[in-house]
Amino acid sequence: MSVRDERTKQMKNIPDKETSELIKTAAQKILAGELVAFPTETVYGLGANALDAAAVKKIFAAKGRPSDNPLILHVSGIEMAETVVELNWRARYLIEKFWPGPLSLVLKAKAAIPSVTRAGLDTAAVRMPDNETALALIRAAGVPIAAPSANRSGRPSPTDAAAVTEDIGGAVSMVLDDGPTRVGLESTVLDVSEEIPVLLRPGGISKETIEEALHIEISLPHDIGLLRRSPGTRHRHYAPKIPLIISGSSAAEEAAKGKWAWIGTKDPAGTPFIKIVFSDTEEYARELFRVLRIIEKSGAETIVAQEPEEGGIGQALKDRLTRASGI
Ligand code: TXA
Ligand code: MG
Repeated sequence: MSVRDERTKQMKNIPDKETSELIKTAAQKILAGELVAFPTETVYGLGANALDAAAVKKIFAAKGRPSDNPLILHVSGIEMAETVVELNWRARYLIEKFWPGPLSLVLKAKAAIPSVTRAGLDTAAVRMPDNETALALIRAAGVPIAAPSANRSGRPSPTDAAAVTEDIGGAVSMVLDDGPTRVGLESTVLDVSEEIPVLLRPGGISKETIEEALHIEISLPHDIGLLRRSPGTRHRHYAPKIPLIISGSSAAEEAAKGKWAWIGTKDPAGTPFIKIVFSDTEEYARELFRVLRIIEKSGAETIVAQEPEEGGIGQALKDRLTRASGI
């Protein structure tokens, strides 16, 4: 299949009038119950009208996503968020500081959200993406857009339009192509529905940054006996088609006997079949998913990934590498 088919619409370097026509068409498709893939600052999303149960079911079918894994509702701002979830002071405070941006907030859901969108839970995740095309689409549709990452379930998230087409091209009516994404890993998912905030998924905004803003320590699901956790973290995730091993283990030494690929911010010991060295941890995070898709097509048999530096985006990167390695 060609990477760019007639459904993929370039959003960069086109006149404003054409942009608004494309957004209008995409919004009409959303309101007609169709699927539209769109860019965000983190990864590309596979969008449907969050309030239309039949449309949302198409997302689960297109991705092969388990029906017990709820979706994030993408909103154009706090007013739209308020139509679907019960905000509290913590949520308002974090929204003021971090929206638009890669922070999804889990809150008590209002009845407006169909059960399928929130996988039967009484909470729902909302976020305002920091991407003009995404925001224009949500505003034009006038409804929250439910969107998981636009990959087949279990595959690395797509950070450009070509990866979307590769995974789920046949299922979408339109792909809005805004070039490669800026962050490259998904949003942080923070549950603020109860007294104790819980970090359900590390992501684009680090735990320390949120702790500094709230002046309290954020709990992890394990700290509270997994009473609250992200259903998505139960499922196998982010897997490339060949095994990924984190450096330093005996398995990594074993891999070095075959055709192996190296990814990291430093040079590897030994001679890999392919070597990808990033400038810093940010680039490692931003390019990880794209590079995994390239390496799996290269003929390499194993990927050895350097353990990332702690702090900042390093935590989210380590989470994704660990889950890609199947540990
Ligand atoms: O950056 C992102 O978050 C991207 C872009 C497209 O916005 N989206 C994304 O969606 O990564 P997805 O579906 O791949 O991941 C959503 C995560 C899952 O782990 C899901 O279980 C969790 O958010 N989640 C959603 N609603 C939840 C809820 N009510 N309670 C707990 N976890 C929830
Ligand atoms: Mg995903």
